[in-house]
This record gives sequence, C-alpha cells and structure tokens, in this order.
Amino acid sequence: MQDIEQQIKQLSDEINHHNYLYYMQDNPAISDYDFDMLLNRLIELEKAHPEYIQPDSPTQRVGGTITKQFKTVTHRYPMLSLGNTYSEEDLIEFDRRIRTLVHEPVEYVCELKYDGVAISLTYEHGLLVQGATRGDGRQGDDVTANIKTIRSVPLRLHGDYPDWLEVRGEIILPHKQFNQLNEEREEMGEQPFANPRNAASGSLKLQDSTEVAERGLDCRLYYALGDNLPGNNHYDRISKLAEWGFRKQDVMEKVDSIEGVIDFMHRWDTLRKQLPYDTDGIVIKVNSYAQQQQIGATAKSPRWAIAYKFKAEKVATQLLSIDYQVGRTGIVTPVANLVPVQLAGTTVKRATLNNSSFMDSLDIHEDDYLFVEKGGEIIPKIVGVDLEQRKPGAVKVTFIDRCPECGTPLIQNDGEAGIFCPNDLSCPPQIKGKLEYFITRKAMNIDSLGEGKVKILYDNGLIHNIDDFYKLTYDQLLGLSNIITDEGERTVSFREKTVENILTGIEQSKQVPFERVLNALGIRYVGETTAKKIARHFKNIDALANATKEELMEVDDVGDRIADSIIAYFNRMENLQTIMNLRQAGLKFSINEEEANLSSRLEGKTIVVSGVFSIPRDEIKHKIEQHGGKPGSSVSKKTDFVLAGDNMGPEKRKKAESLGVPIITEEEFYQMIGEA
Ligand code: IVH
Repeated sequence: MQDIEQQIKQLSDEINHHNYLYYMQDNPAISDYDFDMLLNRLIELEKAHPEYIQPDSPTQRVGGTITKQFKTVTHRYPMLSLGNTYSEEDLIEFDRRIRTLVHEPVEYVCELKYDGVAISLTYEHGLLVQGATRGDGRQGDDVTANIKTIRSVPLRLHGDYPDWLEVRGEIILPHKQFNQLNEEREEMGEQPFANPRNAASGSLKLQDSTEVAERGLDCRLYYALGDNLPGNNHYDRISKLAEWGFRKQDVMEKVDSIEGVIDFMHRWDTLRKQLPYDTDGIVIKVNSYAQQQQIGATAKSPRWAIAYKFKAEKVATQLLSIDYQVGRTGIVTPVANLVPVQLAGTTVKRATLNNSSFMDSLDIHEDDYLFVEKGGEIIPKIVGVDLEQRKPGAVKVTFIDRCPECGTPLIQNDGEAGIFCPNDLSCPPQIKGKLEYFITRKAMNIDSLGEGKVKILYDNGLIHNIDDFYKLTYDQLLGLSNIITDEGERTVSFREKTVENILTGIEQSKQVPFERVLNALGIRYVGETTAKKIARHFKNIDALANATKEELMEVDDVGDRIADSIIAYFNRMENLQTIMNLRQAGLKFSINEEEANLSSRLEGKTIVVSGVFSIPRDEIKHKIEQHGGKPGSSVSKKTDFVLAGDNMGPEKRKKAESLGVPIITEEEFYQMIGEA
C-alpha cells in the first residue's frame, strides 16, 4: 500500500512539473500524448485509491466538483479598484500629483490592463487554499474548485515561498477559446457571449467545474500581498512570483519618468492587437513600497496607481447589403457588408449583426450609416445607427423569411433570439456542417478525414448523409480530387496511403462509444454533454427513441426544448433509416453491457442524490444505474433512499426525515453496491 501512495505522489509531482513547464514556461518537455498517458495512469490509480489523492493532484484540473452555491468569503485586505484616465494630459497630471507628495526620484512600473475578471488566490504553506472573486471589494465568492481547473494557476508553490501569500490578478478567456465557445453556443442555438470578459465571468460562476475546465480560462497575476514578503518594491516582488512557480509576466516595464510611461502606452496601444487576449488599457504603479505608503489610498483606490484606458475607436460607415449565413444546425446569422473603413489599424468591411433580435433593436434602414467600434477587442462590433445620416424615406430592413440556401420558410422558436431553417435534411450548409461535425473528436473522431477531405467527398457526390461515410470504397476514393473553385483552389488527389488512412479511420470509428455516436447524429440541441447524460440514462437507442417527453425530461439538463427536439428527430423516417444504416455498418448504439450492468443490488430502488461527493454527482448517478437503480430528482414517498453528500440541501433533508426516507452516506452507498 505504501507503494501505491508513493506512486501516486511521484506521478502527481511529475505531472505537475510538466504542467509547469508547459503553462508557466511555455517550454514543454514531453509530447501531449505522453502527458495524457501519465495523467490517465494517475486517474486510474486515484480511482482505485482515493485515500491517497494529493491536495495538489493535477487531476483536479479536469474539474468534477459541483458547487450549488458559492460560499461568501471576506478578503483579508480589501480588493481596491483603480482610478481611470483617458488622455496623455491625465497621465501628466497624475505624475504631477505624485511629485507633490514624493520629493525624490520616482520609478513607475507599467503593465497591461487585462480585460477579465479580478481574482484573489490564497496560498497557505505553499498550497492553493482559496480562489475568490472581487465581489464588492470586501467580500467575494469562493470559486476555488473552478479556479483549480486553470492550468496557469499553480496548485502548489516551490522554492522559498512564504507561509501565507495572497496573489491577485485577472481571469481571462483568450480569443481562440472565446471564439470556439461562441461557435459552440451558436450551434446549440444559445446566445453567444458579447465579449471575452463576459464569457470569463460567466465561466467562473458555473456550478460544474468539469464544464469550467473545458472553457480554457487563463490567468495573469499582477499583485502580491502577505507578511514579510521579500523585496521593497512592486517590480521585484512580482518578479519573485516566477521563482515560486507562477507564470512569469508577459509584460512589465520599469520607467523613471512619465515620458517613459507615455512611450509604453503608445507602443502597447499598437502591440496589444497581436496579443492572444483582450486588454483595455495599461496600469501605472509607483514601484517603491515606501513611496506607495507615503502616497496612500482612498477608500476605493490607491493613489499610487492609475489605469489609462485605450480609446475604443468608433466610425460610421454605410451599409451596403446584408448576407445571411446558415450554420450546421440551420441558425441564420445576418452579416453586414459595409463600405470599407479604417478602424484601429485594420480595414473593416464586414461585421456581424448577431441575430434577428439584435437587428430589430438597431432598427436598421436601407443605406443607413452604422457605427462600428473596436476597443481592446479583436472583433469590430456594430453599436448603433447614425440617425442624422439616414436618407429620408429609407425603407426599414427586415429579416429574410426564406432560407437563402434552400428557399425553405424560416422559423423562430418562442423565447429564442435565433431564426433557423428547418430543412436539416437537404439544406446544403446544414448537410456539410453535419458531415464536418460527424468526424470531429467530440463525435466519431475520424482524424484521417478533415474539413478539406469531407468537402472533396461531398463535392464529388460521394457523401450526402452521415451514413455514407460507411459506404465508401477504396476504388471510389483512389485518385479523387477536389473540384476547382473560383478562388482557384490547389488541386489535391487521394493517393494509396491517404485512402488507406481514411478507410482505417472510418473502420476504427465503429468502436466509438454510444454517447459519442449519439452526439455525432447531430440532433438539434443535443451536444456533447447532453448526449453523454442521455446515453447513460437510456443505455440504448431503442429506449431513447421510444421515450416519452416526461421520461426524457427525467434526464439532468433535458428540458422542454431538448425533449421536443429529440422527439421530433425520432419522428422522422429519414432519421430512423440513417440510424438503421449506421447500426448495420457496426456503430455502437448501446452502452457497453458489462459497464451498463454491474449488478442488480439496487434493482427497483429509487435514490435521490444531494450534496457534494468525492466524485462528480453524475458519476454517482451513473453508478446507481449500473447497479440497477434509478436516480430520482425529488424526494417523495416513492424514494427508497436519499444519498447525502456534503452541504446537502436542508429542504431535501427535512422532507426525507418527515417522510421517513432513510438517508445514507457516500460510504454506506459504496458498501451497498459492493465497492467499499
Ligand atoms: S492593480 C491596488 N494591475 O483593473 C491595485 N489591476 O479597473 C489593484 N486590472 O480591479 C489592481 N490589469 O481587476 C492591476 N495590471 C493590472 C491590472 C489590473 C487589470 C483590473 C483589476 C482592477 C481593475 C481596475
């Protein structure tokens, strides 16, 4: 046993070290594959021996904790905000004020102002013990479980770190992750986030940390507090953080005059456009702690620091036309074509109008001049209409009522911002989108095919429906090449090796588990997570196809909208035919039998699960099902047990007690199913 504990410790350390090299030093020492192997081995060991899980275990990065309500925590030192300035004159005025208070040379530290959500991280004896939001500055929310999923936040420090340390910074969502998240949301028919800051803030407040882990949040730190910390100035102290295992600063410069600050500001107003995340200004801090003390602070903000906000540039330009783009799930997005205009260093000629509600709210008329703004963000956005330039008698622009791709009348569901084309079976962009989605990692994971190859297959008339992938033959594929488009695409042609790879990839996809096959079908609103929950609940496609709306809604996360969409899907002959064809091709349409039925110890028992457990609640519910039981959602006379974790809801407990329903612990549950 000692041996296993040792192994878990060593593996945790090793993986943490690789995480450090990758996320803090940008200098990985092993391949992603080798890293995953190490991590999987640790996950296995920890699963078998949860008693040896280390407090800084790298497995916490993948999440798993459900937080029903965030605890309120009081900041040891209030989290102040910063005064803002918008011009060079303001900066010079700031410098003048400082110099009336300090009669010796002043050094400034210039940093970027990250556009995210403020965070406070507390380390005790080198271990991350708390991550808290700013809240009202005095009290914030305890979001520790979510913070632990962020790889650039060290879980354990190294070197000569102090016993107690608080580090403050900003949680950000880089552009790439932001765009990906919004694409997914749009595909699911959800409203996209307006900007990365909102997305970061929303992500940090998610209850399920597994979901947070998938968002790809990042962190930049700019302030350190504690007793007797080394260094007598800000620059040295922040530099010291890197020695304790924090990521080193992207940008931090010392200057000895306000001219130096202004030079930094001008440089970064341009350079920031190349950064992979949003910044909305720069922050200037007096470097020396002694001088900071001397200058002091108001109740709201320190007087020794100030933020300079970059100006969001705004121009008005004329609307030429509106394109309507149709996505994989049929959602139609309006995009404005504009008279090209220079804005914050780039030429803007197109900008999204998001959806019909946004378009309505702008009340756009033909030939209108639209205000386009670009601040610290990457994407120019339309912020309004210049009414003074509206032509008399101009006609209001209305959203199209037929699909621009297939002519089908468009539909808007109640309460949704998006309008969509319901012709999912023959609308070309929807077909292409579904085929492209089918091969992705989250779905059938056929990585020998990519978007480009799928396009070739589609253009050559070989695939039209997802089941066509399994009908492809060697002879059909060999020598296949792309159809040259007007853009003069490069010609490629499939050679022996390529064809073999494609066919092997397709063959291997037959081993993909049911939950991902279900995701790959492309049922509207059924994405990766929902598919997983549905697959585990119904265990096979027949049970799912025959489920009533009420039965569907017993699954976590499945509400009216998703249930209706699933029913509509299975009511279509064409879809049933596709499933039959895929089944014949050998795809998995039920969950693994051994995994599905481990025992019948809980046969006929309804168990309500409440609170936080050592493993994610979904896993607990999955175990109940694996042993023949049924997870229930609310306590009633029909409930056989209530399985209580930490912080179980008091209402549930009261109800169970009044009805005489036995309450069991996680331990007792494992004993029941023979996994103690
Ligand atoms: S220093 C007492 N430095 O901007 C000093 N703040 O508008 C506290 N921010 O609440 C803040 N980048 O959330 C500091 N390099 C940076 C920053 C930064 C972004 C945020 C922070 C603060 C807000 C003030």
